[in-house]
Amino acid sequence: MKKFFSVKDVASVSEIVKEAMELKANPNTLESLGKYKTLGLVFLNPSLRTRLSTQKAAMNLGMNVMVMNMDKDGWALETQDGVVMNGTTVEHIREAAAVMGEYCDILGLRSFPKLKNRDEDYSEDLFNKFIEYCGVPVVSLESATRHPLQSLTDIITITEYKVTEKPKVVLAWAPHVKALPQAVPNSFSEWMCQAQVEGLVDFTIAHPEGYQLSEEFTEGAKISNDLDQSLKNADFVYVKNWSSYEEYGEVYPVIENWLIDNEKLALTNNAKVMHCLPVRRDLELSAEVLDGPNSLVIKEAGNRVWAAQVVLKRMLESLE
Ligand code: CP
Repeated sequence: MKKFFSVKDVASVSEIVKEAMELKANPNTLESLGKYKTLGLVFLNPSLRTRLSTQKAAMNLGMNVMVMNMDKDGWALETQDGVVMNGTTVEHIREAAAVMGEYCDILGLRSFPKLKNRDEDYSEDLFNKFIEYCGVPVVSLESATRHPLQSLTDIITITEYKVTEKPKVVLAWAPHVKALPQAVPNSFSEWMCQAQVEGLVDFTIAHPEGYQLSEEFTEGAKISNDLDQSLKNADFVYVKNWSSYEEYGEVYPVIENWLIDNEKLALTNNAKVMHCLPVRRDLELSAEVLDGPNSLVIKEAGNRVWAAQVVLKRMLESLE
């Protein structure tokens, strides 16, 4: 594996989940695979889970890890070609990525969208340039449009906790006070759509009008504007806010109640509730659900290690 950016970078969802579960059962059996290999984690935005779980995964594989908070500690990056750099940017991504590739065998990059210009964000220009210029395998730590390590974690968690062969999974839009990217729901949706093709889940997206995701990520999903109807027979509810894709980055007022609380949960098939975290309590997801027996959020966050470890394992194997 030379790149982990989307579900298209894995041949089979069920196979990579199985491999991740094997690593979870035996985390330290491959300690020599990453010996003398270096992972560089480059963050242009904050992180708790992605940073720590990917470091932990790399350490389980015997790797050395370097972390760069590029937004705070690095030179201001120029990403456009053909510009005279006489403004605020100091270093071009061509040199910055290439230099990091000299120090690292594998690189990870986190780069959020600006939510100003849809075409710019969805072109993934910065990410693509980083991949092109660094010259080593790259794992996405969340890009403008996707969060594949989170989504792989989510299908691992669903596989681990499902009690029926083909659970009904509902991605449920949730309220928020800020405009959030579509990266997590896009990515969750494209992984669930592929999992559905493989017969692993039955997948529904519920969101208020105006919050439809790009069709690029939702092929095969059932899509509804009726939360209560969608929650019926749900085995897993994946709660997440996102801003509008159509009116890019807009946040429309929503009058109906889209907060998942115990009353909403009672409509489901005793569903397990998931969220990628961080979560704003009683705004995005009720505290009673977060603290209740149906919440999987902590176990889900724990599984971030195995998603990262299986991806790094495949990348290390491709270096040999
Ligand atoms: N879920 C997730 O990616 O968490 P962090 O932003 O804290 O890494």
